[in-house]
Amino acid sequence: MAAALEAGELTQAFQTFNVLSGALEQSYRDLEAQVTRLNAELAEARLERVRQERLATLGEMAARLAHDVRTPLAAALLYASRLGLDGLADADRRELAGKVVGRLRHLEQLVADMLAFARGGGGRFGRCDVGALLESTAHSLASRLGPRARLTIRTHAPGLAVLGNAEALVGALVNLAVNALDAVGDGEAHVEIEASERAGRAQIRVRDNGPGIAPEHRARIFEAFYTTRASGTGLGLAVVKSVALGHGGRIEAEPVPSGACFLLDLPALEGGA
Ligand SMILES: Nc1ncnc2c1ncn2[C@@H]1O[C@H](COP(=O)(O)OP(=O)(O)OP(=O)(O)O)[C@@H](O)[C@H]1O
Ligand SMILES: [Mg+2]
Repeated sequence: MAAALEAGELTQAFQTFNVLSGALEQSYRDLEAQVTRLNAELAEARLERVRQERLATLGEMAARLAHDVRTPLAAALLYASRLGLDGLADADRRELAGKVVGRLRHLEQLVADMLAFARGGGGRFGRCDVGALLESTAHSLASRLGPRARLTIRTHAPGLAVLGNAEALVGALVNLAVNALDAVGDGEAHVEIEASERAGRAQIRVRDNGPGIAPEHRARIFEAFYTTRASGTGLGLAVVKSVALGHGGRIEAEPVPSGACFLLDLPALEGGA
């Protein structure tokens, strides 16, 4: 029956409505506060997970490094202790000293790689002339080139420059060239480092005449600690990748008919060429 509401009933209805809408608003606010709190907790949990992941990676790195450091360290200690023996011929002493230096150099490289990996090529950035980077790379490699190894550097774009950390970039190129020399082994190594410019990019290619990269390894060679060499640590290419990314660039192994070819592709500095 449609009857007009009495004035009292209307007031009561309004009161009820007010109470209900007040309660609704309160529960909406409660819900909103809960969502905000949950979001904050989620963000914190995410940060914590990232932190845990980084810690886990660092833990794994520390464990592997401790292992990789121990071998050359033990060898260096052994050779060094023999150096002190009486009655050692000069030639033997020189050979032992050379071995000690070799192992220590390996250790130095390990530490340098580790630091470069952690920094990702950060540090002081400035204008780097690509030709000069190649010259410095050749200079750093001079002492590692055996009598059967030949290194050629070539720049097709004079004045080509990038914005970056010269030390990190040279370190990356040295890593690529050392890999090339390692890949060729005792044979006649020919390593070529070539720079060119293409569509605003500085492209540096490191080629060698070694056996090339087997297809089954290709997908994983840039992972930290992935190595196919008995004495390798597997940090070299991970460092190169981290430096390339740190410079807004990329690194890839280009498919070539023979040997290996790594392309380091970086944004060229405008007005550099
Ligand atoms: N020029 C190359 N020719 C053939 N294989 C290569 C070449 N460069 C890298 N590789 C492959 O990629 C793997 C990973 O290289 P990476 O430099 O990261 O580590 P590594 O040289 O084995 O050890 P580390 O550099 O730490 O001493 C190598 O073990 C090798 O299998
Ligand atoms: Mg290497």
